Amino acid sequence: MKQTICNVFPSADAYILPFASPAKRHISLGKELDDAIDLALERHFQAGAGEVKALMVPVAGKLIQLVFSGFGEMPLMPRKLYLNAAKAFRMCKDAGAECVAVALDNLPALCEDADLFETVGRLPLLVNYANTGRKNNPKVKAFREVCFVSEHTGLNDRMQAAIDCAEGTVIARTLCNQPASFQTPHSLAEDAAKLGAECGFSTEILEQPQIEALGMDSFLSVARGAKNTPPALIVMRYLQGGDAPVVGYVGKGLVYDSGGYSLKSNANMKNMFDDMGGAAAVIGAMSAIARQKLPVNIIGVVAACENKLSYDSYVPGDIIGSMAGKSIEVTNTDAEGRLTLADAITYAIRKEGCDVIVDIATLTGAAKAAVGKYSSAVISNDDALYTALQKAAYSSSEKVWRLDADEEMQSCLNSAVADIKNASGATTDGGGCILGGLFLQEFVEKKRWIHIDMAGVNFRAEPPAFTTTGATGYGAALLFYLARELPQYLKT
Ligand code: BES
Ligand code: ZN
Ligand code: ZN
Repeated sequence: MKQTICNVFPSADAYILPFASPAKRHISLGKELDDAIDLALERHFQAGAGEVKALMVPVAGKLIQLVFSGFGEMPLMPRKLYLNAAKAFRMCKDAGAECVAVALDNLPALCEDADLFETVGRLPLLVNYANTGRKNNPKVKAFREVCFVSEHTGLNDRMQAAIDCAEGTVIARTLCNQPASFQTPHSLAEDAAKLGAECGFSTEILEQPQIEALGMDSFLSVARGAKNTPPALIVMRYLQGGDAPVVGYVGKGLVYDSGGYSLKSNANMKNMFDDMGGAAAVIGAMSAIARQKLPVNIIGVVAACENKLSYDSYVPGDIIGSMAGKSIEVTNTDAEGRLTLADAITYAIRKEGCDVIVDIATLTGAAKAAVGKYSSAVISNDDALYTALQKAAYSSSEKVWRLDADEEMQSCLNSAVADIKNASGATTDGGGCILGGLFLQEFVEKKRWIHIDMAGVNFRAEPPAFTTTGATGYGAALLFYLARELPQYLKT
């Protein structure tokens, strides 16, 4: 798909007209269309937030679609724009429009506020994405060209940032939607390496013997049940920040999570090929960061494996080691993500010299119970880092909700036979999302740290307009914008 900026209206199948309320036409598309628009504004369209209406009008012997997109009263925030402008693009796509023009100047804020411009600039790629898997002859409608029409100049860099960022999200969705019948820890590693070569970051893939030599017993315990799909430690390096601190982006990379001997029910298992949403977000973000040549030092780390059943899998009651030297009592083999992440975090700190850790994971069902399906649940030991994440969430329209890392809850992870247990084991304790974070905090060695539990936002069976059924690609844009905030933040 081609995405351009132009200052005159091209011939298109559909025109998207953005309006704030009260609805007024600020631009001219020629007498015939202007009359049609003005008539529609008189009675049929109020420009309320989320209001979308289409009108078919004959122009030079062809029917074109005018799509009115309402955003309500100003000021407009990126998230509101993201949700509502996506509806207009979706309506164009569903109607089969291949060439779409967006009349940006009808709502000048879209050009004057760079955050808003980038938000709308990401949507064509996000809406165009189709999740057709391995279906033969899928019937997909797609945009061929989307043109943003504006008299403003100087928008090109922001448009390229929007495209690179949206492609990062599409990469994350594509990786995350691969079922375990096609995706193994190694195929994920190879996909990361290919993207690294294309976008500009380097990739090192550590195999089982090297992982063993590092003493990653916690990671290896989870991986042990999947004999045919051995683990891979994927290390991605992008070091363009000079002597700035090194930031570790650590993503959970379970290409399948059956729960192991603490087996999940079928209903809770069938989408568990998506349990590498954190890894997908890291890989998508690294791609966008490298394409944008951001002045940062980022190390991406993914401990990729499968949580499967075999005669040899780890079982509840096991006491296992970890790269950090802490012993762990496994009370539940389904709390496997934290076991892989603990070693990945230790690796990032001790072997790659990371000063800041950002981990992102589909870690707990409890995250959704705590904050709902629109936000990830975040735990952090650093207020300024969380402020940077909030700014990134504002720009990316990917919401975050911070929970207190309530130290009193830590006692739920006390073990009589090991340094810590991986899950409380008592349903009466509650706070599963916080406990996941508190477990990881034990491995961050007092580094500045932020934990993003994206279990509730990773997958949508009833998708909003900006995505389609399946993986949302959540996190790629968030981590991209966080990297853009980092130089500023790391100074303080
Ligand atoms: N991958 C799951 C979390 C998950 C649940 C992701 C639903 C997406 C949707 C994770 O490994 C898990 O099973 N966590 C357990 C932890 C519990 C055993 C302490 C959970 O949430 O029940
Ligand atoms: Zn699990
Ligand atoms: Zn899991």
